[in-house]
Amino acid sequence: MKSFSLVSISLLLAAATEFVYSAPTARGRAPESIKQIRRRGLEKGERTERYIVVLKEAENRTWGEVFNDMGYDPTDVEDLKATPDFRMLKAFSRSFTLAMHNKEKEGVAALSNIAYVQKDHIRFGAGVRIEDSRFNSVIKPKSKNAYRFPTIARRDGQPNIQTQNNAGWSLGRISSKHTINKNGRDVNTLNFRYTFDAPCGSGVDVYVLDSGVNVNHVEFQGRAKNLFTAFNGDFRDEFGHGSNVAGIVGSRAYGVSKKVNILSLRVLDANNSGSDSNFIEALQAVVTNHNKRKTEKGFVGSVVNFSIGGRGDNDLLEKAFQQVFAAGIHVTNSAMNANEDACTWHPQRYSQNSPMITVGNADIDDKKAADSNFGACVTLHGPGEFIISANNTDNEGISIFSGTSQASPGVAGVIADLMLRFPKLRSNPQAMKEFLVKTAGGNVAGATGGNKILNNVINFDNDP
Ligand SMILES: *[C@@H]1O[C@H](CO)[C@@H](O)[C@H](O)[C@H]1NC(C)=O
Ligand SMILES: *[C@@H]1O[C@H](CO)[C@@H](O)[C@H](O)[C@H]1NC(C)=O
Ligand SMILES: *[C@@H]1O[C@H](CO)[C@@H](O)[C@H](O)[C@H]1NC(C)=O
Ligand SMILES: *[C@@H]1O[C@H](CO)[C@@H](O)[C@H](O)[C@H]1NC(C)=O
Repeated sequence: MKSFSLVSISLLLAAATEFVYSAPTARGRAPESIKQIRRRGLEKGERTERYIVVLKEAENRTWGEVFNDMGYDPTDVEDLKATPDFRMLKAFSRSFTLAMHNKEKEGVAALSNIAYVQKDHIRFGAGVRIEDSRFNSVIKPKSKNAYRFPTIARRDGQPNIQTQNNAGWSLGRISSKHTINKNGRDVNTLNFRYTFDAPCGSGVDVYVLDSGVNVNHVEFQGRAKNLFTAFNGDFRDEFGHGSNVAGIVGSRAYGVSKKVNILSLRVLDANNSGSDSNFIEALQAVVTNHNKRKTEKGFVGSVVNFSIGGRGDNDLLEKAFQQVFAAGIHVTNSAMNANEDACTWHPQRYSQNSPMITVGNADIDDKKAADSNFGACVTLHGPGEFIISANNTDNEGISIFSGTSQASPGVAGVIADLMLRFPKLRSNPQAMKEFLVKTAGGNVAGATGGNKILNNVINFDNDP
């Protein structure tokens, strides 16, 4: 008798537990909890994809309670967290990622406390071409004199203008009104002339969302720092893309803006790919750091540079960008290298109705690179073929990359410079974008949008 009552009590408890998670249906059968739907799908071997799950703003209960609604007890939650695709996001909304099959995803999306569930797309670093850095005639500018950039003009109310005679062609091009006269010079040499302003981005933070940056490279002079990584504390640049890009923005020898602070956010893996959730978390880290820096002495402003793209929209990523723009941060992105309409790529297409600047790739003859994306979503072009910059593993070495990834950092560098010269543009990304387009020059042959080439507005008739 005693044992019989015990059994019925535990049955009652089991039933009560079911009721916590889900009300009975009209047919009198309790619907499955999310946990049950998940388990059934996994048992049937349903294909899973990684999603970002975003809570509604009004949902202010603990995560434990949120998961409890889905049928998970604390032990189950630990099991979930141990799955490779699970990650709690430190981002603009309370959110997490999880690999789910379709039924499970639909079940989660239907919960009343969930704002939306979005695919966590894999994005790629622009499909760059790594040029062979062994067969070039680069003389590493090692001697002290290599870094004497003489002042060549000084005008009242104007910045001091300096010149660098051992620059790559891309630096020559952005400080010239004209197409480069090659005079027999090869693209992979450092014997072009760059003309720039002495302040050169001093006090500006440039955030490089990429494959990581070799912050120890001598050409960064200690101005490069690690801020964020989506890879378990691993900040290394295993691919080399991020170091090259950061070097174009702000290294001493190869950089447009030779005094900026560079902050590396590693969002791409050794194969140069990363997911939306990496980018969203990194953008949150940018806004948080920017807001902290705003109150510090000598701070001028922030630019975000990244060159990623892929198919498919992501509302959360767009929302993250809106917050970045609202904070007064400039964003440049590359058009990507697929010889396709950039408006069919994401987030490139977003540049059509936002302050985002999307950059196409032009070669030394002012021709659109064959693989550069094109069209109305390209804001302007930058020099991007055979760009010599910092190496990822050799602290004194170079790498040579080609692609829209190399064209876009130049824009970030020029923005850093303009922020010092035109304080009104510092925290106005839309006005900066319009200014860049207005002051760009030339005409890129073969382009069908944003046909002009980036210019650093020195207003000096440079012959590079
Ligand atoms: C959570 O939200 C509810 C209603 O929106 C509110 O009444 C409650 O005070 C909030 N609780 C906390 C801890 O913020
Ligand atoms: C990179 O790609 C290779 C070959 O496809 C693969 O074996 C490797 O696991 C990938 N690495 C990462 C970090 O995804
Ligand atoms: C970096 O330098 C090393 C050593 O010189 C070289 O083997 C490597 O290819 C370079 N990396 C890139 C991305 O060019
Ligand atoms: C931004 O990053 C992308 C890719 O990492 C790069 O191609 C591009 O040149 C960078 N743009 C600027 C302005 O730094």
